[in-house]
Amino acid sequence: MNGSKRTPLRTPQAYPEHALPPGVQKLPRPAALVKAQALAFLMFEKPDLDATAAFLADFGMRQVARDGERLLMRGAGDAPASTWRGVASRSRYGRGLQRGRRGRLARLEAQVVGAPPAGRRGAGGGSGVELVDPAGNLLAGPGQQTLAPLPLRAPLHPHTNSVGLLPRINATVRPPLEPAAIARLGHVVLQTVDFANMAQWYMRHLGLIPTDVQYLEDGTPTLCFFRLDLGAAPADHHSFVLAGGIEDKYEHSAYEVVDLDALGQGHNVLRANGHRHMWGIGRHVLGSQLFDYWYDPDGMEFEHYTDGDVFTADHPTHYVPLELASIWAWGDDVPASMGVRRDLGTLFKVARLLWQGRLSLARLKLLGRAMGRPRPWL
Ligand SMILES: [Fe+2]
Repeated sequence: MNGSKRTPLRTPQAYPEHALPPGVQKLPRPAALVKAQALAFLMFEKPDLDATAAFLADFGMRQVARDGERLLMRGAGDAPASTWRGVASRSRYGRGLQRGRRGRLARLEAQVVGAPPAGRRGAGGGSGVELVDPAGNLLAGPGQQTLAPLPLRAPLHPHTNSVGLLPRINATVRPPLEPAAIARLGHVVLQTVDFANMAQWYMRHLGLIPTDVQYLEDGTPTLCFFRLDLGAAPADHHSFVLAGGIEDKYEHSAYEVVDLDALGQGHNVLRANGHRHMWGIGRHVLGSQLFDYWYDPDGMEFEHYTDGDVFTADHPTHYVPLELASIWAWGDDVPASMGVRRDLGTLFKVARLLWQGRLSLARLKLLGRAMGRPRPWL
């Protein structure tokens, strides 16, 4: 290639809240009613529990219980098990659930402390509180049983040889070829039509802290990575992400594994057993995780990750322009499904939102421009 035509490489910019570029709006922070202490588990409804169970086992979860209607799977940590409930429907995953409360594609459950906010008591009684967010997702907690932790192999990084650093002498690297054992649920990502309202609701009801806010070209916040307020204790860069878009839906959930070798060997196991790969292995920018994304049998996204950022509550919020560039630092290109879709279904959704007045043409154009940009380093 002619050197004079080479595109300058760049990395995404981030601005602390006290030094925002002109025109960038701050995400308002309401007073918190309570502070959630953990993203404990998720609940799903699925048409084929057998296929789901097979995928989750290859994904590295361990089965706690299974009956005709219910599958409980856990990681090695002490968090309560996640639940997959069978639905007697042959229709696709989303539709089966939409018959109930709007948007209940995944139920979030978070352990909360402090005085319970306005909400109804859990069906099981006790101190459980149920909340329903503005999109219809159910949140509940506390009151669920924690589990005795299971053993995990030790991380391999302390034995990594590097320039000037040779901790491994007369020894080899032979990580076991097995599913990437899940340590714990790390985060869940939801798409929302009403980003501003949903962001306010989650900050107010769970005390979430915006770690990184992403904004459109007009300076409007439209995506946020939220962490838990654990005070001086380190919290994951994000336990919860809200992405402004054209529908209310589950995007993905992510599960921590021990190290990069677990991620890689887990990739081999999933691939060998015929599961559908989505994206990876690569490294994210916001959160810095090494990632690998897979589809479950119904096309829902599940992420393995390791080596994520952690911050204490006093770390300042940062603002980052919304573009594909901010999603990943290196690795294969983002799959087309994560960009702008130009199919009939999308057209219908957009037309309906425009007609309902929930989306403006200007915002649609800005969203399209943000997600239509090329690779991060260009
Ligand atoms: Fe993720």
